[in-house]
Amino acid sequence: MRGSLLYEGKAKKVYTMLGEEFQLILEYKDEATAFNGEKYKMFRGKGRLNNLISSKVFQYLHMKGIQTHFIETLSETEQMVSHTRIIPLEVVVRNVAAGSLSRRLGIEEGTILEPALVEFYYKEDKLQDPLINDEHAAYLTGLSQEDLEGIKQDARSINAHLKSFFDEADLKLIDFKLEFGKLHDGSIVLADEISPDTCRLWDKKTNRKMDKDVFREDIEDLVEIYEAILKRLEAKVHV
Ligand code: C5P
Repeated sequence: MRGSLLYEGKAKKVYTMLGEEFQLILEYKDEATAFNGEKYKMFRGKGRLNNLISSKVFQYLHMKGIQTHFIETLSETEQMVSHTRIIPLEVVVRNVAAGSLSRRLGIEEGTILEPALVEFYYKEDKLQDPLINDEHAAYLTGLSQEDLEGIKQDARSINAHLKSFFDEADLKLIDFKLEFGKLHDGSIVLADEISPDTCRLWDKKTNRKMDKDVFREDIEDLVEIYEAILKRLEAKVHV
């Protein structure tokens, strides 16, 4: 089914699909990177875990009426998705202060942000994905302010769905990053992945960190934590 390798990112490889112009295959890799690639480690089994977790998240969002690129899970490490042109924006939604927000603005980790904050970052490794405002985003992507406003609204409704989704598994959704892409007909849909690599998740009762911060901050074994997330989702959330 796999055609040629189109692109290799830090966490996934993207292949064309033989005979299917409008579909792609995403293969999740075992590597983890942090701090714009400065920190790197291989975790056997991570690709499988993120593929299965992200598949479940996208299936749930699909059930809630969110338009996404996800079509189906093909294997332990692969998904079939619609071919999109990725918009070079990282859309971050924050329910609780942590990470770069706490470092940059001095807001104590754990402070509740109500309403959630939505931020745009320019997806450009060479510039280390800088924080940008809406006017920069319109200039850099060519999107209209109306489309950017639509993306922000989608991010807020995805946030509401994801909060309930993770709450079922006794996890608090602290923050997360989304990417959007354009389908061949020009419509904008949710793309990329949603996994513990791209979300901060804290245990509801203990506030234990259960996401990529365990690798960033050398707290615990990443694979054990991601395995625990998948187990909770499989036991508690039915899609
Ligand atoms: O590092 P920062 O606090 O800005 O990250 C906010 C959220 O976005 C975190 O959940 C992080 O995992 C995610 N993120 C990501 N990819 C990036 C930057 C941030 O998935 N390049």
